[in-house]
Amino acid sequence: MADNKSSSSSNNRAETESVIYICQSGTCRSKGSDAALVEIEELASSLRELDDSAAVCEVKSTGCLGYCRQGPAVSATVATKKKRNKHDSGGHSGGNYRRLTKIYTRVDTLERSAAIVEEATGGKLPPLNRLPGKRQFRLSQIRATKRREFLVSTCQWNKAMSNCIAAAAALETNDTNCSNADIDQVRREMKSILVKAGYPRASPLHLMIPSPASAFDSGDSSVARGEQGLFRKMPTAPIEGYVLWTLDRVRVASPHSATFSFHTEDVKRGTPHPRGRGKLPKPITWHVTMLGEVGSNMEGPLPWVERDYTPVSTALDWERGRCDILIKVYSDGHLTSWLKQRTSKMTALSSEQLIRQDLIRGHGGSASEAVLPPKTAMKVWLSRPIPTLSVPSLALAASNDNDDIGSPGSILLLLAGTGIVALPQILAHREPIRMLGISTPRRNHLSCPIDLIHSCREDDILMLPEIKEYCVQGLRPQHPKFCGLRNYTLLPSSRGSNNSSNTDPLPVTSPPPPFKNFFENEGNDADARINIKKCYDAAGLLQDVSNASINISQRLDENILFEAIGKLIEPFRVVVSGPDAYNIAARKHLVDDCGVDPTQVTILSA
Ligand code: FES
Repeated sequence: MADNKSSSSSNNRAETESVIYICQSGTCRSKGSDAALVEIEELASSLRELDDSAAVCEVKSTGCLGYCRQGPAVSATVATKKKRNKHDSGGHSGGNYRRLTKIYTRVDTLERSAAIVEEATGGKLPPLNRLPGKRQFRLSQIRATKRREFLVSTCQWNKAMSNCIAAAAALETNDTNCSNADIDQVRREMKSILVKAGYPRASPLHLMIPSPASAFDSGDSSVARGEQGLFRKMPTAPIEGYVLWTLDRVRVASPHSATFSFHTEDVKRGTPHPRGRGKLPKPITWHVTMLGEVGSNMEGPLPWVERDYTPVSTALDWERGRCDILIKVYSDGHLTSWLKQRTSKMTALSSEQLIRQDLIRGHGGSASEAVLPPKTAMKVWLSRPIPTLSVPSLALAASNDNDDIGSPGSILLLLAGTGIVALPQILAHREPIRMLGISTPRRNHLSCPIDLIHSCREDDILMLPEIKEYCVQGLRPQHPKFCGLRNYTLLPSSRGSNNSSNTDPLPVTSPPPPFKNFFENEGNDADARINIKKCYDAAGLLQDVSNASINISQRLDENILFEAIGKLIEPFRVVVSGPDAYNIAARKHLVDDCGVDPTQVTILSA
């Protein structure tokens, strides 16, 4: 019997193979995917020792899978050997295996990692608290520590504090496995984070809570309600990694979105391209983190939330102390609704006059701009620039293996909603000296054809005048030097349509758009506001541009992608940036329907 069992187990091992891929890209790493990688590796190796019927399982890291907002994301492929009939020839070619791929999201607990390993291998792990060598406790500590390291490295102090509080609470309730030294270590880290966050006099002891769960995840602790009262105000001391910027102007771009223009003279703002003293500038695209002073919040004990934005102004502007950020305002968005509320409060004093004066004086303001009175100047904290993509590969800058990727022969950009903000920074690398003020080797310039497919809501078409200019540049005969865009396709979807692969249509019952008033002719303000129909006359704007086309209410599908990929020159790179639903659909069409190698696809969360 024993022999039979052993031979059937080894048969199972021989006939089934699985590979588990764990996303190690930026957003998932910020949510602890590097810890998920360690957990899954350890659990898979434990299972191999404990259960000889479990399938052979390889564990690998991978790039973005498109499920950024639901990260950490994991994909498992199980290959089962097909039963052969007498007509089949032998061999172990890929054709003899049936492959099944499954995506797992929110892999943020040891239990979830264990379930994935069991499902991918068909084996059975013992209860986690019976794993040898206090493995459960050790792995949970690794998860907390790795996430904290990432948050500290990206100056996300509020989330890092939340992580520390949860880690300290877990240690205090698990006194059989932890020592006082472990708790002291976490307290020291908390103290160090508080100093960096601008609260040098605050004590971590005020934040220790007797609960194993995160105060901010569970949402019901006294800390989360802000009862400790220590952090109700922004610090007066500097916040490490950030400088204060003053908001000068809000330029309304659509009923949902506006460009916020900031300036600063603080030299600590850094530069996207550090250079000098023998150091050459690294060609990258970049983003910044903004702190929204929302007060008590569920993300951590500090009075702000942290959000990443990609500026639409150039690196050269940043070095000159100016920065424009195009932001879509969501009624339920913590930071964006705070920003909208603060700006409307300040302009309410004399907004009508300001808009009028701006028009009458003709100082460069357009009908859709609002300028804030100097005495009510609003300040926000912006971080130093953080690399997003490496150039010319356009692979994620945080990924370790993009040095092996050379220059692409052509590029396809699939951008949706506010994901369009990635465009100016990418195109700036066609002329780095003029646009970025840096000199980079010619091989690092983006001197190849670039095509853009742009999906958006019809009432939120962003940056169209700039895109038109890029198209016109692309038509100029410049061979072998490429400029602007070679081809542009606009896919506007109608309001209320249920087109999940395009962008994020609002349901018909959604709250009114935040900048609606700028787009309606009402009473005496007719001069100061622009007509919504004029704003969205995309067909009129692009009518003479031969390399631009509009497909109204057409969703991004495999047919559009087949055609677009057919025009690309190998080796090509596809960059996808939009809401999660769009990124997932685009990746699926590219990889599953069009057969694009996943390593040629870069996905950014917008
Ligand atoms: S799925 Fe992991 S970063 Fe996108």
